[in-house]
Amino acid sequence: MRPNRVALVIVVGLVVALGFVAADWIRAGLSARDQPSTLEVFLARRVRSFAIPASARSAANPVALTPDVLAAARAHFADHCASCHANDGSGQTEIGQNLYPKAPDMRLPATQNLTDGELFYIIHNGIRLTGMPAWGSADPRADEDSWKLVYFIRHLPALTPEEIAEMGSLNPKSPSELEEEREDQKFLNESTAEPPRTGHEGMKMPAAEGPKQD
Ligand code: HEC
Repeated sequence: MRPNRVALVIVVGLVVALGFVAADWIRAGLSARDQPSTLEVFLARRVRSFAIPASARSAANPVALTPDVLAAARAHFADHCASCHANDGSGQTEIGQNLYPKAPDMRLPATQNLTDGELFYIIHNGIRLTGMPAWGSADPRADEDSWKLVYFIRHLPALTPEEIAEMGSLNPKSPSELEEEREDQKFLNESTAEPPRTGHEGMKMPAAEGPKQD
């Protein structure tokens, strides 16, 4: 066989093999429950890193870090991000763990080793073909909130139980959860407004019924 024929056979063989792999993958149901393979995670992260321009990667945080900035970012995260990422950044939520790919544990080196610029770029632009949405206004220069969130992501490994508890009160609530809270509050208000019962009040003795006098 001539060398170009050999090359053709190899290419056709590879295409057929890839077709079988893809068919197997699709027949598995394209379920979001699966864990991406190590190879897929590696390739996806390489492509993402390649797609972030060098100038964005090396950008420095233009917002000064103060306790108020960190507190605002913590509240923002509880409201907008915790549904997938959890208040502690572990990604252990019903939505976060049932996406494909899963929301990662952002306290770990894979996230913490990203540069500030990369974190900002990811928050501002989102990640295509994943559950990670784009946030903030379209103009990155006006998106201070995402830069503040970068500080909060850096703070995740040192988050205190008090901070996590406070975030719990800021997480978005469904209408039924709000209704339940209102009921609890009503019950508490009523039980503090009334004087303590001794056990006899409120029990009306039936009036003695004498003979009717007409
Ligand atoms: C609807 C679910 C969802 C919401 C809400 C969400 N994320 Fe994500 N996020 C994801 C998923 C899924 C990934 C993983 C994507 C991947 O593996 O490529 C991710 C990845 C990230 C990453 C990259 C971490 C890494 O190591 O690759 C950062 C940073 C991030 N999110 C920050 C945020 C912030 C900040 C918010 C809120 C403003 C937020 N996310 C809201 C689902 C979400």
